[in-house]
Amino acid sequence: MTFDDLLIHARGLVAGRRRSVLGIAGSPGAGKTTLAQTLVRELNASGERWVAHVPMDGFHLADAELDRLGLRERKGAPGTFDAAGYAALLGRLREEVDGTVYAPGFERVLEQPIAGAIPVPPTARLVVTEGNYLLLGTGAWARVRAQLDEVWFCELDEDERIRRLIARHEEFGKGHDEAVAWVLGTDQRNADLVAAGRDRADLVVPASLDAGV
Ligand SMILES: Nc1ncnc2c1ncn2[C@@H]1O[C@H](COP(=O)(O)OP(=O)(O)O)[C@@H](O)[C@H]1O
Ligand SMILES: [Mg+2]
Repeated sequence: MTFDDLLIHARGLVAGRRRSVLGIAGSPGAGKTTLAQTLVRELNASGERWVAHVPMDGFHLADAELDRLGLRERKGAPGTFDAAGYAALLGRLREEVDGTVYAPGFERVLEQPIAGAIPVPPTARLVVTEGNYLLLGTGAWARVRAQLDEVWFCELDEDERIRRLIARHEEFGKGHDEAVAWVLGTDQRNADLVAAGRDRADLVVPASLDAGV
């Protein structure tokens, strides 16, 4: 498999007037966002913006709500996202192809979602969405999976994934010890949940494709 094979496969998901949605799942730090960004950039290289990028990250609950629920220390776990809202937005993206549909973004320094941050224009024929729990299959996450034409699983060697994830937390403001503790604690529990979904993916994308660089 090469990166060009992925591009061909992604183009093949679009047929007729229908808008398609491709999901990319994987553990924290596995490279989902980087892969999605690269796919979208390469597919849109011809000019028209026919591919849009809508991360699951925009459906993080706000810190104030996590505090109310007593889940602030579990941030990133399945129960700290608005999964039903995400499924509903994916449904709207499939149905509402005549006007711009807005998706929420996620601000990494604030670590908070921001409504109305991502416009999906009528020209978008393919939406690439990515996040940890696309293959979880429990509760509202099953409704998320039902809105996806295919789900790819982003795979990365565990040591390298942890190294990159610690580096990313440091880049966005955590001290080294805090970053290590978070990655080996909260993030690792989430990573184990995600890894269990690998077998349900339509395609496993090996890190050796190195789409990001
Ligand atoms: N091929 C690569 N080589 C080195 N670092 C990478 C590569 N791909 C991604 N990264 C870095 O690893 C970190 C995690 O990647 P990211 O795409 O954010 O993962 P995810 O969205 O799955 O959490 C980011 O800081 C990113 O810049
Ligand atoms: Mg990401």
